[in-house]
Amino acid sequence: MELSEAIGRRRSIRYLLPHKPVEREKIQRMLEAARLASHWGNVGSLRALVVERDKASQEVLDALPSPVGGFQIQLAPVIIVWFLETDAIDHAGDRLRELVEVGAIGLGDNRRETLEKTLLPIFKQLAPAMKLPGLNELDCGQGIAQATLAAFDQGLGTCCLGSANPDGIRQQLGLPESCRVLVTQTVGYPAEDYRAGGQRPRQPFGELFYLNAYGESFPRDEAVVEELTLEGMIQDSKPYSWREEELAYLQRALEIKGDGIV
Ligand SMILES: Cc1cc2nc3c(=O)[nH]c(=O)nc-3n(C[C@H](O)[C@H](O)[C@H](O)COP(=O)(O)O)c2cc1C
Repeated sequence: MELSEAIGRRRSIRYLLPHKPVEREKIQRMLEAARLASHWGNVGSLRALVVERDKASQEVLDALPSPVGGFQIQLAPVIIVWFLETDAIDHAGDRLRELVEVGAIGLGDNRRETLEKTLLPIFKQLAPAMKLPGLNELDCGQGIAQATLAAFDQGLGTCCLGSANPDGIRQQLGLPESCRVLVTQTVGYPAEDYRAGGQRPRQPFGELFYLNAYGESFPRDEAVVEELTLEGMIQDSKPYSWREEELAYLQRALEIKGDGIV
């Protein structure tokens, strides 16, 4: 699948086939994609605990509730708990040295010395602030996004689930205090049509992106839109005519109680 199509197909898949296992190598490909994502200072603070439902203890499964659409956790054959290891920031100096060694940053013969004398003391001083929520979460999000695209590229469906009590999940799963749970992600084979209703409605392009000055909309070239539509990135965001019937079928087949909202 081309990247454009993988981006176009990516949407939250809430209805998964509970009985169809996910091959471990497909999960590995997701994790490999996450590992290669960019991170400030090449620090790499993203971590994951992959929970295979058929191997998980009841205690672990009970630690993963979601306030929204709780049935999703019950359906998913695999649940990835993405978390952030703040201690990774303590090793920022080594990560920067590696970048200098491979020639990714810095120029000339003095670059190693300059790194030691100027940049590393700054990083050391900033370390406590850099552990706070912010930039790290953004970088972890890049990794999770790459993993999500890798999932869709392999025919899987996923949905990220937030939690009102991420620290409670951390404690119940026995993760160290230095970690912050970010999100749990269900993974499995879709029980619904790959379009899952249709591409989700988004805010107008011109209201989101600016060119050269705040408030000046980035011009949207219709020829590009047409090209991306042909490539499959931009898809119809109106649900197809039989979506309601599909939802009714999914509710019956997957025995989902209630309206699936909470
Ligand atoms: C960090 C994060 C947390 C989310 N939490 C939930 C959740 O708890 N329950 C849920 O059904 N969807 C959750 N979602 C999915 C969003 O609702 C979804 O991305 C949004 O509806 C847009 O749809 P799309 O992903 O299909 O494009 C979450 C998404 C993200 C990125």
